[in-house]
Amino acid sequence: MTGRSQSIVLIGFMGAGKSSAGKALARQTGLPLFDTDEIVSKRFGLSVTEIFVQLGEEEFRDAETEALKQLAEAAPAIIVTGGGIVLRPENVKMLRGLGRVVSLEADEETLFRRISRRATRPLLQTKNPRATMVELLRLRDPLYRAAADVRLDTSRLTHDEVADAILKSLEVP
Ligand code: S3P
Repeated sequence: MTGRSQSIVLIGFMGAGKSSAGKALARQTGLPLFDTDEIVSKRFGLSVTEIFVQLGEEEFRDAETEALKQLAEAAPAIIVTGGGIVLRPENVKMLRGLGRVVSLEADEETLFRRISRRATRPLLQTKNPRATMVELLRLRDPLYRAAADVRLDTSRLTHDEVADAILKSLEVP
């Protein structure tokens, strides 16, 4: 059960559908929506890519951890996270303290198709983005699994179907 004070936290790789599912969940539940990428972006007045290029990944990761600390006050809410949030064990601890953690997943083909729609992922600005994606996935998959209460394959689902499936699996009426 999701207690009334508990948030729903979405984790998963880039392209797993976290932002779209978050919007659908917020619409369906009436809970406020927070997105760690947006919080960090607002804090610096820069896009995520600009932060990576101008300030570096470490600065982005520090701000991401700061954003999570602030979100403890926001519960209950829908919380969408960036794909790298699970890289720091302290983040995972905070995520699990915020509420129920849902890992959104998709097959490699689907992830790459979704990611390729927008060139806004700084980590994939490489000579071979697909190979980079596969390598990052291999490294991160165990981290998403370990952090999650629930895992859901979004490859063949619409945004609303993903939201429905999440609410059902968390037994939210
Ligand atoms: C990142 C994912 C991005 C964003 C940043 C780093 C990652 O968020 O936080 O580009 O390390 O996987 P999305 O998962 O929303 O694309």
